Amino acid sequence: GPALFGARKNAQGWDLTDAGDLAAIATARAPHLDRVFEAAPMLAGAVAGGARHAVINPATGALVGHCTPAAEADVATALGAAQPWAASAETRASALRRAADLYEENFGAFFALLAREAGKSLADAVAELREAVDFLRYYADGAAGLTQPARGIFACISPWNFPLAIFSGQIGAALAAGNAVLAKPAPQTPLIAALAVDLLWQAGVPASALQLLPGDGAVGGWITRDPRIKGVAFTGSTETAQKIRRVMAEFADPTAPLIAETGGLNAMLVDSTALPEQAVRDILASSFQSAGQRCSALRCLYVQEDVAHSVQDMLFGAMDELTLGDPIDLATDVGPVIDVQAQGGILDYVAAARAEGRVLREMTAPAQGTFIAPTVIKVAGIAAMPREIFGPVLHIATFKAGEVDRVVQAVNATGYGLTFGLHTRIDDRVQAVTEALHVGNLYVNRNQIGAVVGSQPFGGEGLSGTGPKAGGPEYLLRFTATPVETSAD
Ligand code: NAD
Ligand code: ALA
Repeated sequence: GPALFGARKNAQGWDLTDAGDLAAIATARAPHLDRVFEAAPMLAGAVAGGARHAVINPATGALVGHCTPAAEADVATALGAAQPWAASAETRASALRRAADLYEENFGAFFALLAREAGKSLADAVAELREAVDFLRYYADGAAGLTQPARGIFACISPWNFPLAIFSGQIGAALAAGNAVLAKPAPQTPLIAALAVDLLWQAGVPASALQLLPGDGAVGGWITRDPRIKGVAFTGSTETAQKIRRVMAEFADPTAPLIAETGGLNAMLVDSTALPEQAVRDILASSFQSAGQRCSALRCLYVQEDVAHSVQDMLFGAMDELTLGDPIDLATDVGPVIDVQAQGGILDYVAAARAEGRVLREMTAPAQGTFIAPTVIKVAGIAAMPREIFGPVLHIATFKAGEVDRVVQAVNATGYGLTFGLHTRIDDRVQAVTEALHVGNLYVNRNQIGAVVGSQPFGGEGLSGTGPKAGGPEYLLRFTATPVETSAD
């Protein structure tokens, strides 16, 4: 419970409206703009390694660095060398706090890499570094209150869309609880992961407690099918989580937990009492910030028929103000999607909607780079959406007065339950919708992205995740051994 967590403050971050902060960022980032980064397995033992390949900037096609992925032999080495972190909770906590400080000191390298490797705008990069250090400090604070022992070796498997924050959050929690970690970052973002592990090691986390195994899903498969793995923390698509669950059912210790944070089909409801200017600002941020590549992002907007035209017109006007481009430029609001494969899938989806005459608005994408222009597509309802489209594509549906229950039922019927946005000034409606919806994070009269560690524990229901919520008081407990029933004597 909350008693585990004392008074704490989240990181201050950087203020992008402050000339001093901007100058400091420019200076710190400069040496990392042309640097060629390297990632390879980081083991408590000798590295075999697979075939080294280039890592490319999705906005420019330029070289960012190289990655040597893990070979199957590296997974075996890591499993053999892994040792749960036997140091005291206080020692573990201070190493994690020291790592958080080192992350902040290395902001120039992280901001450069978050733009160059992950396509993140500077505003997104600032938010991501803050979230990463908040996770490390939050779980460090929680370590002292844990009464259960560590489970053993944890696999931490993370996505490219929060290559620093989610990567570090999973690892931080597993280490705070005293486990050994095998970290498998996304294949698109190994360089950020390698820099982070280097800093965690420098901070005093032993190599036997934290090893990095870069590579694709095959590497994740080699790790998760080993019975020495006593728990998996996974964030990524629902489909991959289901694969991992099947592998664990076959190979893992039956008590090993899968903590999965997965995809969503997130909706927002804007009724006729909502303030249109505020709703439009929040629709814009929820759909197009981070090029829509957030699990929390708005996918299906339900707007009440009476105000649909005015909200839509204001939204289209606001979209015209968005700047697409290289995220290294401060002016950029919307960067690229992560790679050619992601771009191709989204372009095909939009082309099919265009052929059906359902594209209401499309911006223009830069010719070079893996960009998707922010797009708005008309849809009858969320039930007509085949899957999560992981990019800057918003769907709009309308509803009539008296149909709020129908909307809520349709959203629940997707089986997903991650975020929901509600714009209304009717108090009873807030109450009723909150009670009826099965979602992890519901936001009222604001955007639905950017959950804050410690204040807005984040995680979904149903197909969107297993819980417990990340950045919340229950999360660490799941990384400790299941309480053993003791007989009364
Ligand atoms: P993904 O499922 O393709 O990959 C996630 C990770 O799993 C990667 O490291 C990948 O290499 C690994 N992987 C793939 N196949 C594997 C296998 N068979 N065994 C073990 N590991 C395997 O997801 P992604 O494209 O990297 O990320 C985008 C998805 O993540 C979206 O669906 C998004 O909604 C979701 N996401 C969810 C949250 C959340 O908190 N709920 C946060 C961020 C992203
Ligand atoms: N925690 C991230 C958000 O809330 C995914 O947007």
